[in-house]
Amino acid sequence: MTAEGPTELKTYLPSAAAMAGAHVQGMAAYDALCAEAEADYAGYWARHARELLTWKTPFTQVLDDSNAPFFKWFADGTLNASVNCLDRNVERGLGDKTAIIFEADGGEVTRTTYSQLLARTCQIANGLRSLGVQKGDRVIIYISMSIDGVAAMQACARIGATHSVVFGGFSAQSLRDRIEDTGAVAVITADHQVRGGKQLPLKSIVDEALAMPGCGSVKNVLVVKRSGADIAMTAGRDQWMADVADRQPTTCEPEWVGAEHPLFLLYTSGSTGKPKGVQHSTGGYLLHAALTTKLTFDLKPDDVFWCTADIGWVTGHTYITYGPLALGGTEIVFEGVPTYPDAGRFWKMIQDHKVSIFYTAPTAIRSLIKAAEANDKVHPKSYDLSSLRILGSVGEPINPAAWEWYHLHVGGGRCPIVDTFWQTETGGHMITPLPGATPLVPGSCTLPFPGIQAAVVDETGKDVPNGQGGILVVKKPWPSMIRTIWGDPERFKKSYYPDDFKGQYYLAGDGAIRDAKTGYFTITGRIDDVLNVSGHRMGTMEIESALVSCTELVAEAAVVGRPDDTTGEAICAFVVLKRPRPTGDEAKAIAKQLRDWVGKEIGPIAKPKDIRFGDNLPKTRSGKIMRRLLRSLAKGEAITQDTSTLENPAILDQLGENL
Ligand code: PRX
Repeated sequence: MTAEGPTELKTYLPSAAAMAGAHVQGMAAYDALCAEAEADYAGYWARHARELLTWKTPFTQVLDDSNAPFFKWFADGTLNASVNCLDRNVERGLGDKTAIIFEADGGEVTRTTYSQLLARTCQIANGLRSLGVQKGDRVIIYISMSIDGVAAMQACARIGATHSVVFGGFSAQSLRDRIEDTGAVAVITADHQVRGGKQLPLKSIVDEALAMPGCGSVKNVLVVKRSGADIAMTAGRDQWMADVADRQPTTCEPEWVGAEHPLFLLYTSGSTGKPKGVQHSTGGYLLHAALTTKLTFDLKPDDVFWCTADIGWVTGHTYITYGPLALGGTEIVFEGVPTYPDAGRFWKMIQDHKVSIFYTAPTAIRSLIKAAEANDKVHPKSYDLSSLRILGSVGEPINPAAWEWYHLHVGGGRCPIVDTFWQTETGGHMITPLPGATPLVPGSCTLPFPGIQAAVVDETGKDVPNGQGGILVVKKPWPSMIRTIWGDPERFKKSYYPDDFKGQYYLAGDGAIRDAKTGYFTITGRIDDVLNVSGHRMGTMEIESALVSCTELVAEAAVVGRPDDTTGEAICAFVVLKRPRPTGDEAKAIAKQLRDWVGKEIGPIAKPKDIRFGDNLPKTRSGKIMRRLLRSLAKGEAITQDTSTLENPAILDQLGENL
């Protein structure tokens, strides 16, 4: 890579090495793909769907927009996702190829070939069938990073059950909410998860969730043995995965499903109400998972691909469970955390496993920069990272300084960084560089993936000129888009195809600006009440509801985000208690109590970093909380906004005080 131009607008052109043999070589090739999609949109996606996926019944329809915005893709085709990810690779001679290199928290490594992963998937699938789980049933997976975790997802796909993975950091209450909303018939979990040298419970949290009202649909709980420690098992409901799966045959007749069959539901935060169950399809989703893995990561047969996300998030679905396996790739699955046993863990694993493509989140990079700058031993320069050829970033904006560090110290100045913008709802990359084609500008996710009609518009849906910020939309439906919100089609319409744009455009919920000269996109952040903390999406309303549900203590709460050097955004809560406003040590003790409460209600990732107490919140005379003032207070900024409509201006001084 070579740098050109002044620092602010540094552009990195793809090197000859990055271009050599790339699936998309040079901008002319990128432009040709875009032109192909422009000329024949349906034909473009149909070509990829035929080239990348194996269909049981070939589709004859491509896009069906007759019931927009409930779009259908390849609707009369049938296929099976696990056959595409596993059987197909075994059949084309990759049976002995390593599919997964699993590294446990403590460093033990297990390699699983495609034949073995297929066999394990079939055993779990047969096990689920033996319990009566059928096509269309929902199965909750609440497990940490493991081969059985990936195999369990594939097993659900194999029998046509719809999986819903719940991140292992969510609380019993959050798990309960998802179980109730999905009406799941089974839960797959483990006794414990092991992270950072610590053993954390999973099964006992499942027990706690199932003891709450609303979980009557769950008939079976399958428990993978991880810690081997004693746990409670409920007779007639709970069984060890080994007892159910290990004696099953290693082949399993797949359930052929229509392309629109829901492959999975994944819950994510919106600006209002409870998390929404984003429903993804089988055919269109798998197509984009495979296509983006191929073009954005330029995945080749000899690559060792490592996506550090958890399978509890969409990134883990698309770029661990489905995309790399659909292409017959070799990938790392890592159980642990980047800072254990020390902050050199990622670099050591890249060195040990000769990782060639590495995909992680800016938060991780920023925290590892801090650690590396404090201690040479955990600096990437102390490791041999010469196997790397492509780096990726996802989940939040990457600031140019972190980008430059990642590029220089991890990528040795030679690896392109693909800054991939996408969302749980989009299923796969939407705006991203292609490593052998796109000149890179740190901090910009550059240009839409070929075929994706991303645009920046104003409130009326009119395109805004480049150089002016606006609202990010996608003008045409694409194969891996969200199909609906599980059980709430109206909310789907309102959230993503609002009347403001005459129901024509997909509303991403982010702001964006395109560079005046290059047209490159930079994401300017959410335009709704959604926060992004360490790449984790949290709704401010969700945290507020959790706080006010502590009815003993809390009268009122308002939550906003503020910028944070490491986590991108931090959660800041303004709380009015039912008792006099506390100060000093008492305030600290109550703040801790409330943090723990939120941890229990949602999960540790939702714990507010700052909690400030007030006698009241800043409100207009009509009683509306003025959040923009709270945002300024959270940042520690002087209030320059007009406060004349404020009922109680004096409250600003009180809330501005630090704890
Ligand atoms: O605000 C955008 C941000 O993350 C949101 C989506 O979050 P989630 O559904 O949890 O999916 C995260 C993993 C795909 C977006 O609305 N976001 C994601 N990627 C980027 C980003 N912001 C800037 N740059 C990115 N590359």
